[in-house]
Amino acid sequence: MRIGIIGVGNIGRSLARNLGRSGHDVKVANSRGPQTIPADVLTEGVRAVTVAEAAADVDALILSIPLSSIPRIAPAVAGLPSSVTVIDTSNYYPLRDGEDLLQPGRVESEWVIGQLGRPVAKAWNSIGSASLAEKGRPSGAADRVALPVAADRPQDRELAMALVDDSGFDAYDAGPIAQSWRQQPGTPCYGTDLTLDELPGALAAADPERAPRRRDLIVAAIQEKVGDSTTNPSSDWSVALARLINM
Ligand SMILES: NC(=O)c1ccc[n+]([C@@H]2O[C@H](COP(=O)([O-])OP(=O)(O)OC[C@H]3O[C@@H](n4cnc5c(N)ncnc54)[C@H](OP(=O)(O)O)[C@@H]3O)[C@@H](O)[C@H]2O)c1
Repeated sequence: MRIGIIGVGNIGRSLARNLGRSGHDVKVANSRGPQTIPADVLTEGVRAVTVAEAAADVDALILSIPLSSIPRIAPAVAGLPSSVTVIDTSNYYPLRDGEDLLQPGRVESEWVIGQLGRPVAKAWNSIGSASLAEKGRPSGAADRVALPVAADRPQDRELAMALVDDSGFDAYDAGPIAQSWRQQPGTPCYGTDLTLDELPGALAAADPERAPRRRDLIVAAIQEKVGDSTTNPSSDWSVALARLINM
């Protein structure tokens, strides 16, 4: 499959590596131009391009940029045929993205859809970057982590679930975008690296009132631990913290 990825930070680079390794033709772009993309990102099947090139002639476009940057890439997305599946990995963190960007209680992906003016699937948002980098497993592995996929169009759901599987994780149909708040930060499935058996119960147990409070508690704990808001802690520490607070 032809895949564009906009954003090659903590999340985008692991997706590029895992999907390229699975045999997909992957183009990656950042905000500063292809010459600034580190060589270690350009593994098997992955090449560096501009944002416009990443969005051209693809079957799927993955957005792995801060939520607050979504409006800036909207022009590149505007020209996509409706047959292309756009998959968004973003989460809203008020301290990073701006406290007034989303009204309290607003479903993140509904805001993204409004900015882009087209449907998106939400996937890979619920796994920490260290786990994404380390825990991809072949299909059928007993310890394979499962990830929720939300989408409104059946073709987007099907394609996003197939790519989650190709990236090394079980995909679980988490329903329409209106329900995707159940996989946002602070919910029981968020950062907790659950299996396919455990994931449905975690999604059902999500609490919209508690999720933002839990999200902010975790950010505060990470900042206290590592001293800034951009370094990502180890997978063991992050998953232990997320299980303690979110479940
Ligand atoms: N970190 C996690 O554990 C985690 C887990 C799940 C989901 N997420 C979500 O996934 C998204 C990416 O997170 P991350 O941790 O990978 O972020 P990151 O490490 O900060 O990387 C962000 C990437 O987005 C690019 N970017 C930003 N603005 C852009 C623009 N206008 N046009 C093109 N590229 C742009 C950056 O390129 P430049 O460096 O060139 O600006 C960079 O490559 C975020 O929405 C985050 O909430 C993160």
